[in-house]
Amino acid sequence: MKHLLKNWMGAGMLLLASSLVAQTKTPVYQNLNAPIEDRIEDALLRMTLEEKVAMIHAQSKFCSPGVARLGIPENWTSDGPHGIRAEVFWDEWDQAGWTNDSCMAFPALTCLAATWNPEMASLYGKSIGEEARYRNKNILLGPGVNIYRLPLNGRNFEYMGEDPYLASKMVVPYIQGVQKNHVAACVKHYALNNQELDRDHINVNVSDRALYEIYLPAFKAAVQEGGAWAIMGAYNQYKNQHSCHNQYLLNDILKRDWKFDGVVISDWGGVHNTNESIHNGLDMEFGSWTNGLTWSASNAYDNYYLAVPYLNLLRSGKEDVKILDEKVRRVLRLIFRTNMAPTRSFGSFVSDEHRLAGRTIAEEGIVLLQNKNNVLPVDVNKTRKIAVIGENAIKMMTIGGGSSSLKAKYETSPLKGIQDRAAKNNVEVVYERGYVGETSAQQDGMSVADIKDDRSAEQLLNDAINAAKTADWVIFVGGLNKHEFQDSEGNDRKTMDLPYGQDKLISELVKANPKTAVVILSGNAVSMPWVNQVPAIVETWYNGSEAGSALASILFGDVNPSGKLPFSFPVNLKDNGAIALGAYPGDNKNVTYSEDILVGYRWHDTKKIKPLFAFGHGLSYTQFAYGKLSINKKAIAQGEKLTVAIPVKNIGQRAGAEIVQLYIRDEKSSLPRPEKELKGFSKINLQAGEEKTVTFTIEPEMLQFYDDRQGAWVAEPGKFEVLIGASAVDIRQKVDFNLQ
Ligand code: BGC
Repeated sequence: MKHLLKNWMGAGMLLLASSLVAQTKTPVYQNLNAPIEDRIEDALLRMTLEEKVAMIHAQSKFCSPGVARLGIPENWTSDGPHGIRAEVFWDEWDQAGWTNDSCMAFPALTCLAATWNPEMASLYGKSIGEEARYRNKNILLGPGVNIYRLPLNGRNFEYMGEDPYLASKMVVPYIQGVQKNHVAACVKHYALNNQELDRDHINVNVSDRALYEIYLPAFKAAVQEGGAWAIMGAYNQYKNQHSCHNQYLLNDILKRDWKFDGVVISDWGGVHNTNESIHNGLDMEFGSWTNGLTWSASNAYDNYYLAVPYLNLLRSGKEDVKILDEKVRRVLRLIFRTNMAPTRSFGSFVSDEHRLAGRTIAEEGIVLLQNKNNVLPVDVNKTRKIAVIGENAIKMMTIGGGSSSLKAKYETSPLKGIQDRAAKNNVEVVYERGYVGETSAQQDGMSVADIKDDRSAEQLLNDAINAAKTADWVIFVGGLNKHEFQDSEGNDRKTMDLPYGQDKLISELVKANPKTAVVILSGNAVSMPWVNQVPAIVETWYNGSEAGSALASILFGDVNPSGKLPFSFPVNLKDNGAIALGAYPGDNKNVTYSEDILVGYRWHDTKKIKPLFAFGHGLSYTQFAYGKLSINKKAIAQGEKLTVAIPVKNIGQRAGAEIVQLYIRDEKSSLPRPEKELKGFSKINLQAGEEKTVTFTIEPEMLQFYDDRQGAWVAEPGKFEVLIGASAVDIRQKVDFNLQ
């Protein structure tokens, strides 16, 4: 009996144990070690039609549902691209008033591009990815790589300049850095969103050559080299279809040709049509109301084009579930890559590392445009008093500009940065406003420091001049300010000129004190009628939390400037190709890119129009001498590589970094080509007196252009020239070779 009982108990225990195992056996989709595609198929099988449709559109301003029943988490997005945006209410744009969402504001992407240093892009991506992860966002709405077509685009500050090669090289490490944190980068705005005016409907007519050679390469690199997990459709139209549901851009190019396996997310309100969004490549709808951008209702999410309207079509059998499944697969893939990834760090927020990263990137990106007689850096031994003048020395710049606006944990203004640095050497700093531009105390739902000033324009000018006269140095800090028409989303600038009478003020200041440095905060080129009067000019971008301290390091020479321009500064607006040809802003319906492939320096070079400051230009406090350029072959066959090498020496008195640029010129081709194109660059650090040899490999694709007659990239036999320079107009060495 005892024996029987024991046996029975043993069997029972075994049964119980095995049924427990059966019950707790991890489903494949939850099995972190299972291949991701198996997890996707398993999850898909378990989902109802309603759950699938719910997953492909928003449920709040920035979030879309997972499947709570299956333990699949929600997707939380955040702008991007310069820091993690403050929390807003569930269904409102107003900030939710959290006390723990003040982020690190990193420099604007123009500054990052101006570093010409992929390591900085990697550091940027890693750091902002950590901030996103810490705030539990699994999709970062950035980076932006729309090409800088003209100096009026209100969002140029969020992008990486005018050159597709530079933007490609910088975007890839940014994405990889972000995604290391299991946060998806959502590269935006795909594609041809090069103006804010009429952005929600303008139809862009562009040649295939310009599309492939200028406007798409950075997106292609983001997808194929960066491995971006998400991409954002743009607002504008191409071939009369909105970019967010565009057969050519999304199905043909992105998904078929580039084999993108991530999620296409609409820009907020960029969806206009259920049929096209189902069939033309969109995977996830965000931010629309029921009628595009024109009207809103609270919690209208069920009315989205990809919500109940789609569900009804599926239920009635008018739409095939296969297409829905393909969208859901992509969303699940993103979730398994991020929220449900096998390993996931916790991220960090406004850490010392992030402060340092923000500062280093800013210091590397600030561009010394002009420095006559080496007047900068400020020599503290000969300086007793500095007059800082200009509104941008005190104005908060982390706020504003539209969706990239940030609630920063801290922001060091230029004035504070200069004061703190000057105090170390007991140099006195006085401040004068000089002009009053924008004083609103509220911006983007946030209170900004009150900078009201009731003095008359004349009084402000006189007070500034008086301060200038009695100082050893004048540092004017002006530029644009991320308000409407001054570098801001949703509208373009109306002119290239500085606003609020700054030109006049600068001319008066330099008359009062010739030792004047003009510091410009902007994300765009500005005209400089006073360029010949002013000895020193610095472009300092919008540099985020560390703006002031980074600027002071450069002005005082603690850091040797090493940034170079990622876009051309024309002398006048009409020197820009699009403007010269009347190819902006279009007729409210269409805009035709008549300048075609001649964007930025390609236009200036080919049309022999001297820029004010060229693409790739930037000075240092030391000098670099370029030695003789050597080439390992004088002739190559199709598909063959060759190498060129050039010694570069620091012949000045202090350590510095030089950005050595390689351009290629095709002497003769069956289709017009630009005078030259950037195809390589290298940023090298050199001690005083040190020499390094920079080697570049010329890959076959660097010789190609897009032949729209064949729909293919081709390199035509003949003579090519390799040009090595310090900017697009400062070519130091040339050598040629033949492609056979
Ligand atoms: C912008 C996007 C942004 C989105 C969400 C849109 O207006 O164009 O860049 O990510 O809003 O804030």
